[in-house]
Amino acid sequence: MIQLQGITKFYAGSAGRVEALSGIDLKIDPGEIFGIIGRSGAGKSTLIRCINLLERPSEGHVLVAGRDLTVLDAAALRAARHEIGMIFQHFNLLSSRTVFDNVALPLELIGMTRSAIEERVTPLLDLVGLGDHRGRYPAQLSGGQKQRVGIARALASQPKVLLCDEATSALDPETTRSILALLRDINRRLGLTVVVITHEMQVIKDLCDRVAVLDGGRIIEQGDVFSVFTQPQMALTQTLIRDVIGHETPPGLLERLSQPHLADGAALRRLFFSGQSTDAPLISELSRRFSVDINILHGQIDEIRGRPFGSLLVLAKGEAAQLEAAWAWLAERDVRVEVAHVQ
Ligand SMILES: Nc1ncnc2c1ncn2[C@@H]1O[C@H](COP(=O)(O)OP(=O)(O)O)[C@@H](O)[C@H]1O
Ligand SMILES: [Mg+2]
Repeated sequence: MIQLQGITKFYAGSAGRVEALSGIDLKIDPGEIFGIIGRSGAGKSTLIRCINLLERPSEGHVLVAGRDLTVLDAAALRAARHEIGMIFQHFNLLSSRTVFDNVALPLELIGMTRSAIEERVTPLLDLVGLGDHRGRYPAQLSGGQKQRVGIARALASQPKVLLCDEATSALDPETTRSILALLRDINRRLGLTVVVITHEMQVIKDLCDRVAVLDGGRIIEQGDVFSVFTQPQMALTQTLIRDVIGHETPPGLLERLSQPHLADGAALRRLFFSGQSTDAPLISELSRRFSVDINILHGQIDEIRGRPFGSLLVLAKGEAAQLEAAWAWLAERDVRVEVAHVQ
């Protein structure tokens, strides 16, 4: 649905040229929800604004639904943009217009008749749960309701693609969850392709099918969310997802483990489970098979889009050869075994 080919973007800054994006190649499939994460300044907003040419790339091509937007003239580009809706962190509503008239605006601009607009906007307001609020003004709405207006407005031109730039970053966690549920519903019902950029990893974890990690204007890692979040390859990815994946050891436990006698002669390991290995009784079987005592110190099981994963911090005691055999046995069962360090 979306193809970015060799996208580079320079900005003219006061201290010279800033290269915000460097040779981005990316393919986003029809109907998927694709997330882009990265630190502040990584180029996320620039990248998403290049998809509808709000920013024109310095180099490269942007294909949406098979059409190269970078070669279109102004009129053709305006038409092509109807296939791409966008929502923003601060909603960008017109305060002097009602809910209905905010959603109607893009349709007025293309000269649609009032009755056709009525026919288009009314079901959209129902879809986003604002059927009863059509006559209200933005100042009378909560943040979540404002973003619902933003979503309805973005959908007014019946786009194939919805771009979301930090769309839930100004909302509290509960409102965020309801907006994410709405986006998922729209994605399923309308088959819309959704591109999400956010610094909130929970949003990616709850909403997206695939994710790309942007750093210094380059994509450093991408894949399906489950793989990237449970087996991050790059140090930056590990840092970004740390808070939502919950492999952190509680500080009190770390302190106790740093007492020399506790870990004496024992091996401290972190075991990462995913998919089937999460459900299997591997630890009890391991104790039976090998002469190894396992003391579970800390653990967590979670799921991403219905697929379970988890980690256990264990202290294992036994002969070195038995321990090695036990770790190898776990690795054969898709459990990743890492030496855990206590600082
Ligand atoms: N309009 C602009 N003019 C000059 N530099 C810009 C402009 N917009 C963004 N930048 C720079 O480009 C880089 C990427 O910015 P941005 O895409 O906003 O990153 P993010 O959304 O990941 O925080 C940053 O170094 C930023 O300062
Ligand atoms: Mg940004």
